[in-house]
Amino acid sequence: MKKIATLIAEKMSEAFAACGYDSSYGMVTVSNRPDLCQYQCNGAMAAAKAYRKAPIVIAGEVVKALGEQPMLAAAEAVAPGFINITLKPEFLTDYVFEMGRTERFGVEQPAKPKTVVIDYGGANVAKPLHVGHMRPAIIGESVKRILRYTGNKVIGDAHLGDWGTPIGLIITELKVRQPDLVYFDPDYTGEYPKEPPFDVSELEEIYPYASKWSKEHEDYRAESRKAILELQQGRRGYMALWEHIMRVSMEDVKKSYDKLGTQFDIWGKESDAQKHIPGMIRDMKDNGYAYISDGALVVDVKEETDTKEVPPCMILKSDGATLYNTTDLATIVERMKLFDPDQIIYVVDKRQNLYFEQIFRCARKTKLVKPDTELTFIGNGTMNGKDGKPFKTREGGVMRLEVLIENVAEEVMRKMADRDIPEQEKREIAYKVGLAALKYGDLSNQATKDYIFDMERFTSFEGNTGPYILYTMVRIKSILAKLGQLPEMTTKAAARERGADEVNLLLSLARFADCVEKAASELAPHRICQFIYELADEFNGFYHANKIVGETDEAKRSEWITILRITLAVLSDCIGMLGMEAPDRM
Ligand code: ARG
Repeated sequence: MKKIATLIAEKMSEAFAACGYDSSYGMVTVSNRPDLCQYQCNGAMAAAKAYRKAPIVIAGEVVKALGEQPMLAAAEAVAPGFINITLKPEFLTDYVFEMGRTERFGVEQPAKPKTVVIDYGGANVAKPLHVGHMRPAIIGESVKRILRYTGNKVIGDAHLGDWGTPIGLIITELKVRQPDLVYFDPDYTGEYPKEPPFDVSELEEIYPYASKWSKEHEDYRAESRKAILELQQGRRGYMALWEHIMRVSMEDVKKSYDKLGTQFDIWGKESDAQKHIPGMIRDMKDNGYAYISDGALVVDVKEETDTKEVPPCMILKSDGATLYNTTDLATIVERMKLFDPDQIIYVVDKRQNLYFEQIFRCARKTKLVKPDTELTFIGNGTMNGKDGKPFKTREGGVMRLEVLIENVAEEVMRKMADRDIPEQEKREIAYKVGLAALKYGDLSNQATKDYIFDMERFTSFEGNTGPYILYTMVRIKSILAKLGQLPEMTTKAAARERGADEVNLLLSLARFADCVEKAASELAPHRICQFIYELADEFNGFYHANKIVGETDEAKRSEWITILRITLAVLSDCIGMLGMEAPDRM
């Protein structure tokens, strides 16, 4: 199904060509003066330069050549040379009805779908999932769904941090607390206990403690680095401990992502890539990319056009230990082997921007990827508190993600206090709505921007919020429910008067495919938010202007019911792309 702007542009292009101008001037855009027209063509302005004629003259000729068109109610040349376009309401209605019968409401599937790996987890084991890892999880989940909706094969990877500094610190601290554990005995050759020497809450207490202690004690830090090196070299007792840490905390991390509704296809971990490191390093050395500098193995990645200093990418430390970089590069090797992707997208805090620049350059230079494999970094901004600093608990600590979600759900619960809904169901609804409030609050901002977490605003049932969108959907569901048995979907627009509110709703619906394709090409969920906010507003305008259920004109009534159903289905696909779910009532 062609996009509506394309259909109009085709007619405009024919008219430009008929007047002897290049047909490429026929492009149209959504009007930026909706009070005057719906679409506009600025081609005469551009053609004026090329053909050395007054733009208004060209616009006048084109409008004349256009003549009567079944789709157009009006096309008008206005100074200094714009063409203002208004569609016939029947055409618009038929277009929307056809959308309703077309798969994905007219979003075209690509001729050649891409295979995309998206890395958007990044939580570290042995630490509870906190708000810092929330944004990648929310944004990445949405980008994944948008790319899938537009017909691509997408693999979402959790890429959990299970291999670096934190593990070294935990091992070191455990050794201080329980030095007699068999894991620390280098001469021990027997089997290690099946039961871990800690539970998840102990683990979560140990890590921050050790992290703090290490900052103040150099010998402790050195001890921890040694533990990591020994783990990387495969020391048996440490491997066994690491497996315990993994098992205990993976379960917890999975549960937290699950509560957020983040669904990874693979639960990759940094350690998974270790097996590719030796071969990768050998190749880098053999091909002359990597060299020793101050004892460390590095690859130069600076480029002539750099305006800022881009330091070399370090592959091995002087003691032979691998780093975060090494793991990320080896993970690229693994992903190429497993999926041969056309693109790898990373959704990570934007403070890692320079780091990923180094990684991408290094991966390209050392040919870990094909020349046409795209490497894309979506650097997310921070969620801040009202003080403008990264969001903290009232005590100043990092907030567990689950606590944040609970708090938001509580607030929604308060907002629904007067609703006559059984307690248990109300809690479930509040959870869904709360999650949507949190996600929409996040996704409606451009990913790279910081934003302020505003409980009051995010959970409001009015304005540009998740609950408002869901409320609109619930409203449509309840109207449809009142109608009982629904009639067949209308397929052809009747000749009748249509109010501005109805036309605006149709116009908004008709832009769906355009918006989704933009969201996909820009990897920008906020585009979907903009679209549904507008659509919800137009729907509510239409709802308040008309008595839908009580309408006695049969033609009107059945068209309206069809429009309602399409609006609901479009909204529902959109919130699906944002990772939100709508309750049946709220
Ligand atoms: N675990 C990392 C952190 O907490 C984030 C990982 C992001 N993904 C990646 N491929 N490096 O900072």
